[in-house]
Amino acid sequence: MTTVARAPFGFGAGDVVVVTGAASGIGKAVALRAAEAGLTVAAWDVNQAGVAATVADIARTGGTAHAITADVSEAADVERGLARSRELGTIRHLVNNAGPSSAVELEFEEALRISVGSMRRMVDSWLATGAPDGASLVNIASVAGNVIGTASDWYCAGKSAITGYTRHLAAYRGHEVRANAVAPGMTDTPRLAGFAASDVGKRVLGRIPLHRMGTPDDIAWPVLFLLSPLAAYVNGAFVPVDGGWTVTQ
Ligand SMILES: NC(=O)c1ccc[n+]([C@@H]2O[C@H](COP(=O)([O-])OP(=O)(O)OC[C@H]3O[C@@H](n4cnc5c(N)ncnc54)[C@H](O)[C@@H]3O)[C@@H](O)[C@H]2O)c1
Repeated sequence: MTTVARAPFGFGAGDVVVVTGAASGIGKAVALRAAEAGLTVAAWDVNQAGVAATVADIARTGGTAHAITADVSEAADVERGLARSRELGTIRHLVNNAGPSSAVELEFEEALRISVGSMRRMVDSWLATGAPDGASLVNIASVAGNVIGTASDWYCAGKSAITGYTRHLAAYRGHEVRANAVAPGMTDTPRLAGFAASDVGKRVLGRIPLHRMGTPDDIAWPVLFLLSPLAAYVNGAFVPVDGGWTVTQ
């Protein structure tokens, strides 16, 4: 086994980060990089095999991670998942990443319950037992929804709501947790497979000043920075990570 070089983010040794949606895409990248940065990763996902693969990848590089099969939209799963995560150490950080794809057809109110409602449930359940010193979280929003309108009504509304909820946390619960939102642009994950080669993809990429999609790691590193003690005075920020796409709109 090779030991990874620890990225110098200043996280506490053995502190736990809960990453939801860690079987794939952005969540998986956050889990991998968080382990490199010395955190113990509680990797949550509904996809049992996928999250087990993430944990195996982390173990291969000398990091520490545990797979937790849980649906963040189910209260019982959240309570069970948090109880298991607390056994791993102090949960000092949370990345609320899991959320449905905009391509899925969902009834509006149910979609808001699943997307922003699940993030709120995660935060309330985590902090119900008392917030640890230095607690921080990042909620994954989207430039699609906060800056750009989307065809899907619930996706647009849900992502805006996640950013509004993050501002609430920053303003009214700053004594418990530092909260920020990251808004990815077009990111090359399984849910956007084939996008870059499509006609609409080519048109969008043509307007992105960096002329490419983001990689999951492009999103993961800013997420980790915001979670870390290096960002100790950043609270309530909305951070687009989009290659400059939205400033061209
Ligand atoms: N890919 C992009 O271009 C993009 C852009 C903006 C925002 N986002 C946001 O980033 C986040 C991750 O997207 P991605 O592209 O990495 O997606 P992805 O489909 O690659 O991965 C999402 C993961 O979340 C899991 N998941 C979904 N619902 C869940 C639930 N209820 N409980 C537990 N796990 C659940 C899935 O099983 C999957 O493993 C989402 O919130 C998405 O809206 C993505």
